Amino acid sequence: MVDQSTDPSPALVTVSNVKKYFPVNSRGILQRNAQYVRAVDDVSFTIKRGETLGLVGESGSGKSTLGRCIVQLHKQTEGQIKFDGVELSTLGNKEMRTMRRRINMIFQDPYSSLSPRMTAGGIIGEPIEIHKLTGSSAEVRDRVEELLRIVGLNPYMADRYPHEFSGGQRQRIGIARAIAAEPEFIVADEPVSALDVSIQAQVINLMQDLQERFNLTYLLIAHDLSVVRHISDRVAVMYLGKLMEIAPCDDLYETPLHPYTQALLSAVPVPDPKVELEREHIVLQGDIPSPISPPSGCVFHTRCPIAVAECAMTVPPLREVAPGHMTACLRVGPDAI
Ligand SMILES: Nc1ncnc2c1ncn2[C@@H]1O[C@H](COP(=O)(O)OP(=O)(O)OP(=O)(O)O)[C@@H](O)[C@H]1O
Ligand code: SF4
Ligand SMILES: [Mg+2]
Repeated sequence: MVDQSTDPSPALVTVSNVKKYFPVNSRGILQRNAQYVRAVDDVSFTIKRGETLGLVGESGSGKSTLGRCIVQLHKQTEGQIKFDGVELSTLGNKEMRTMRRRINMIFQDPYSSLSPRMTAGGIIGEPIEIHKLTGSSAEVRDRVEELLRIVGLNPYMADRYPHEFSGGQRQRIGIARAIAAEPEFIVADEPVSALDVSIQAQVINLMQDLQERFNLTYLLIAHDLSVVRHISDRVAVMYLGKLMEIAPCDDLYETPLHPYTQALLSAVPVPDPKVELEREHIVLQGDIPSPISPPSGCVFHTRCPIAVAECAMTVPPLREVAPGHMTACLRVGPDAI
């Protein structure tokens, strides 16, 4: 974890004004009135080396699309993504291959993200071979066995196929593969949400141990706010392709400033039944609007419990309202309306 208040190191990842628009149909690009899904719409933030940034928001808010843009599985429509000072979209194929060693992704469903016809050893060894990190096949085998041990599996399991493992073990294989080429930064997209609750903590703890051991930097995408709280240094909240709030973890959970964050957190049950009964629950009205034609002004205005007329006209900028605590709401901050 990184001490935000004293750490002067530059950002490892810098996301600036990133947009990702998907054409609604393949002919759409050529039509004058082409329609787009605005999956990510002008998002900016940074992640420091060694830090975990949690990314939360309802289904369809653009979290996975943003994660995929950062690892360049999607090319962003607009904006810049810099890794260690290098703008990724300007890299040629060869340079990008080298960069791919430093950046990796862990996916939600360990079953569908692992090839069923490859052994665990083949799956974990593939990146080592692609990046030519060891010479002989015996060295690859040694490294695979070391990686299996690192993620808490037995080296003899290298010859088994994915269907022979439990869900939690499969995710450990996914993690071993992700760290095989010794990356610096990992985007983990819902890494534990397909797992039994009893297994989730083990996998999150493994991720934390690996972070300390290898000085990893994480973007952790999750809809479970308690998982995010457990592991994140800072948390960012997305709604309809936009960042609503970003703050140090405890600030966000203890003093959420954006009405959307407040609503998300009020839906998380509190363990103490007395507190749970007495506290205020904010129920958001209506569904998430379509990202093809998002609401004008503040995209949250159609569901916001404190919206005023101005909210439908002005896009609220993301502003720092307390040290390190940024939010995008016209009704929060020194000149709140
Ligand atoms: N390849 C694609 N083509 C067209 N639209 C897409 C594509 N990928 C995502 N979208 C759309 O972009 C929006 C954001 O999707 P995304 O998967 O990024 O959301 P998410 O926050 O990860 O949701 P979830 O919590 O359900 O995983 C959605 O409206 C989705 O339908
Ligand atoms: S800008 Fe207006 S609609 Fe948007 S969150 Fe703030 S009060 Fe609600
Ligand atoms: Mg997703």
